[in-house]
Amino acid sequence: MASLWGGRFEKEMDEIVKQFNASIGFDQRMYREDIEGSIAHVTMLGEQGIVSMEEKDQIIRGLEIIRGKIESGEIVFNVDDEDIHMGIESRLIQEIGDVGKKLHTARSRNDQCQVDGRMYLKKEIREIVRNLCCLEGIILEKAEKYADAITVGFTHVQHAQPITVGFVFMAYFQMFKRDIQRLMDAYERMNLCPLGACALAGTTLPTNRQRTAELLGFAAPTENAMDSVSDRDYSLEFLSAASISMMHISRWAEEFVWWNSQEFSYIAIDDSYCTGSSIMPQKKNPDMAELLRGKVGRVYGDLTQLLTVMKGTPLAYNKDFQEDKESLFDAADTWKNSIQIFAGMLKNTEFRMDQIEKQFEKGFLNATDIAEHFANQGIPFREAHSIVGKMVKACETKNCDFEDLTQEELQAIDKRVTKESLGDISIKACVDARVSFGGTAPSEVRRQIRVGSEWLESLPELDG
Ligand code: ARG
Repeated sequence: MASLWGGRFEKEMDEIVKQFNASIGFDQRMYREDIEGSIAHVTMLGEQGIVSMEEKDQIIRGLEIIRGKIESGEIVFNVDDEDIHMGIESRLIQEIGDVGKKLHTARSRNDQCQVDGRMYLKKEIREIVRNLCCLEGIILEKAEKYADAITVGFTHVQHAQPITVGFVFMAYFQMFKRDIQRLMDAYERMNLCPLGACALAGTTLPTNRQRTAELLGFAAPTENAMDSVSDRDYSLEFLSAASISMMHISRWAEEFVWWNSQEFSYIAIDDSYCTGSSIMPQKKNPDMAELLRGKVGRVYGDLTQLLTVMKGTPLAYNKDFQEDKESLFDAADTWKNSIQIFAGMLKNTEFRMDQIEKQFEKGFLNATDIAEHFANQGIPFREAHSIVGKMVKACETKNCDFEDLTQEELQAIDKRVTKESLGDISIKACVDARVSFGGTAPSEVRRQIRVGSEWLESLPELDG
């Protein structure tokens, strides 16, 4: 079958060239966007008198038939279609005859693939934002449930200070909040319509790009035709946002793997989110957490792939750009699924407070609080820090806790220190007292939950 662009050619493409050149294998997933874009385009052509209203209606009817046939499986694309744009256009011409040949007036595949890509990505982003919001909702519920539940806070994977489980949840809430904001921000920037940029330089025909932008739900047309066909920033912004968010998921997944180990035993992940071993009958493995941690690798790969494709490409369109799609689809699929799996795992995980409490005696979790008590009593913090350091040493030598140091031992360390001056250094008192803005005290975590819920509820819908 001769190609739609075959006019100046005397020979058919070599079979392996045809295979190598075709994007139909992967860009057919944008058939809806391609047809929607064509309907908007021909509507504008009709309104501008570039095609007659009768021709416009015939083409729209034809495009709707093609859509139906794709959906029913009657149309099956193959490499002869080359890409989704020509696949649909050639089927349209077969369906409605010569009038179909008017559809491609004042447009090019160079702007068409950009319209499809942006529309597809916008749809994916709306769904990913919904998934992230759902994840945030689960995080808020769990944060409330565990607002008073005390656990160990780490730095350098060493016992640092006692915190609440709810506080940990709210830390991750902030990360996913930024992910949502980043995505919404990128969405605004990509919400401009490239249709009508044509090959690279616009057209002599009296088109109305504002109108097609409006019909397709974009805020406005893109400003410069050459940039319109060669810009892939919107995909790169998406891939960057996906990489950062997957990194957040991976960090928490890593913590899940640790918390689920026999050594920690901090959490119990529901059976429905774990798998067994084919040889070791006792095993219950946190495979979902591990897979989530692993999936980030492919998304970083997707970002790196497209950055590398774009590097060094001159203006305007180059065929290299066809390589923008698979990584984008892969990242969108991976991110979307990962959020869902992660949210489900989170929902189906309980914290084993009895196990966590066993860790409180280790690591002098309240050391900083004692130093702060001393600072409160007028001892310069640097001196207080050093006094508590000596107390830790004394405890380590005696193999005891701060509470077990005698009055004499305390006085020997520093004359200003008495058993009374230590204040209430129980783990709970320490946590309750960390009421500084953003701190871990349950009252403060509840404030964070309130602000977080308000933010989540007030999020605007993204314009389609
Ligand atoms: N399949 C192409 C792509 O995805 C469409 C644009 C092709 N344009 C061209 N002049 N060869 O990038």
